Amino acid sequence: MARKKIALIGAGQIGGTLALLAGQKELGDVVLFDIPAAEGTAKGKALDIAQLSPVEGFDTKYSGSSDYKDIEGADVVIVTAGVPRKPGMTRDDLVGINAKVIDSVGKGIKQHAPNAFVIVITNPLDAMVGLMQEVTGFAPEKVVGMAGVLDSARFRLFLAEEFNVSVEDVTAFVLGGHGDTMVPLLRYSTVGGISLHDLVDMGWTTKERLEAIVQRTRDGGAEIVAHLKTGSAFYAPAASAIAMAESFLKDKKRVIPCAAKLNGEYGVKGLYIGVPVVIGSKGVERIVEVEFNADEKAMFDKSVAAVQSLIDATNKIVGR
Ligand code: LMR
Repeated sequence: MARKKIALIGAGQIGGTLALLAGQKELGDVVLFDIPAAEGTAKGKALDIAQLSPVEGFDTKYSGSSDYKDIEGADVVIVTAGVPRKPGMTRDDLVGINAKVIDSVGKGIKQHAPNAFVIVITNPLDAMVGLMQEVTGFAPEKVVGMAGVLDSARFRLFLAEEFNVSVEDVTAFVLGGHGDTMVPLLRYSTVGGISLHDLVDMGWTTKERLEAIVQRTRDGGAEIVAHLKTGSAFYAPAASAIAMAESFLKDKKRVIPCAAKLNGEYGVKGLYIGVPVVIGSKGVERIVEVEFNADEKAMFDKSVAAVQSLIDATNKIVGR
């Protein structure tokens, strides 16, 4: 079987972590790409991780580059290019800089990796993944945004800590945009298959504590930015994108929340937003439409409106 190729656009903190995880999971050979000014970082990190591979015991070829030709034939492209936020900023404040970056990166991917499954991590996520799909012109099922996996992982962790149980036994979904209006769905979250509603009745927690966990999930990225001060989270975002890449490369058909382009599902057309999807070898193979109650629908609609205004801002910046 031919070895797969994974191109990582952006050799910053997330890019380096992605490169390491892709190797440890033997997903394919890795090209770490960055702009010419950061080519040394891309090459240095690639070489450093390659030298770790004998210790860890995996066979992955690594290279660093600032030439788009080197992403030729990539099966998966993961985009982290752009700048992270600093304390006091929202993700939306990044739109001015990052829209231009995605516009340029999208053109490089379109020309050099036309068959790739593209996963966007750059913020503000929902608008940036939409821009990527428009610039590349790739089929919507081949361009997705990484957010729901990350937000849901945070939600699962906080719930597991609340109940003092394994994270493995907690399922949870966070839908909507990857911003302050995201929609953590308590009703679809379970602990060992038991609903949170039942756990409140059983006295394991209270509605107030669950609401606090919902808010902490919404603020999950900002909490880390406040600690790091110079940038944003990178381990969990990288692991989340790798889970998506792995589902695609191995045709695992995992059901995971991602920013996907809706075509009438949830009453929304032509916009990327976080919903549960099935990821397999064709990319996004199915969009799962869960039923909302009135409160959930109102939260989701608010999130759609927030994403739409970011898309409008993005279009002005790149003149679309
Ligand atoms: C995150 O949620 O960690 C990322 O979107 C980065 C950020 O700015 O919060």
